[in-house]
Amino acid sequence: MTLFKEKSSRIFMDTKWLQPLSDPPSGKPLCRDTSLKLMADFLSDVFTTGQARNLFIFGKPGTGKTVCVQYLLSEINKYAKETKAPISAVYVNAGRTRTPYYTMLEIVKGSGLKVPDAGWQMFRLKMAFENTLRDKAVVIAIDEVDAILAKEKEPLVYYLNRQPKTTLILISNRIEDATQLPERALSTLQPKLISLDPYKPEEIKEILLDRVKHTFHSDVLPDNLLGEIARITSEAGDLRLGFSILLSAGYSAEKAGKARIEEEDVKSAIKGESKLDILKKMEALREQLQKLRKG
Ligand SMILES: Nc1ncnc2c1ncn2[C@@H]1O[C@H](COP(=O)(O)OP(=O)(O)OP(=O)(O)O)[C@@H](O)[C@H]1O
Ligand SMILES: [Mg+2]
Repeated sequence: MTLFKEKSSRIFMDTKWLQPLSDPPSGKPLCRDTSLKLMADFLSDVFTTGQARNLFIFGKPGTGKTVCVQYLLSEINKYAKETKAPISAVYVNAGRTRTPYYTMLEIVKGSGLKVPDAGWQMFRLKMAFENTLRDKAVVIAIDEVDAILAKEKEPLVYYLNRQPKTTLILISNRIEDATQLPERALSTLQPKLISLDPYKPEEIKEILLDRVKHTFHSDVLPDNLLGEIARITSEAGDLRLGFSILLSAGYSAEKAGKARIEEEDVKSAIKGESKLDILKKMEALREQLQKLRKG
């Protein structure tokens, strides 16, 4: 018996566009032009003076914080290359690196330095980082920054902020992570607060439609069903819910040997979407975690 064989699908062209961490098919986030322009305007000083104002970007889960900032960083790197400006933009997710040490390690590696994964002490990482700043400016985005903010007496972000030619973009779900920083930190960081508000229902629909076009064969998903999925997604506020419902509805239709997704597939996808509950539970857990970190 062969467990795996290549299968052709009447429903799917490519499921990767509905994965929770998938990038926008065109590379650029949709419906966020105003926010992207606002962030770019603040950061543009990097190209003239090597230093721009720090940004603190906040918004609920699934509002595009990560994807917008990653797009911004890739545009900075692209423009720096075109204009031969000595600037590098680095992304690190503190929710994944967890500790200030591993966060710093990622930043140093992202700045183009070759560093072993273990063995170097923090002071050596810092020295290496300071050396690179002699020849270039660095824009550092720290995603899920709340994971490291409360971990040290002298948090990494203060250290980075004191370095010349270093601009920070801090990202978190909650504005409180910025406003509750100690007075001294706030006055030196002086971050510009930028909120990514939940998408409007029509924006959700536009973003989901783009994914649908890249995921399903044409005419697989009727427009009224997409509308229903967009409505539920916008109630939950997290785009990933829409991705997940679309994917399950597609699998349901495929399993039944259909060529199109029907209402019953969407209904069963929504029903099986314990994610609606999970989202609520995650929100509650997140709040508890934030409190624990602060406590
Ligand atoms: N404007 C957009 N255009 C296209 N895709 C988007 C857009 N915004 C978000 N997405 C997609 O939705 C998913 C979630 O977005 P993202 O990871 O940026 O959210 P987030 O705000 O960082 O959430 P969290 O707080 O949970 O980290 C990703 O797959 C992303 O590509
Ligand atoms: Mg994110």
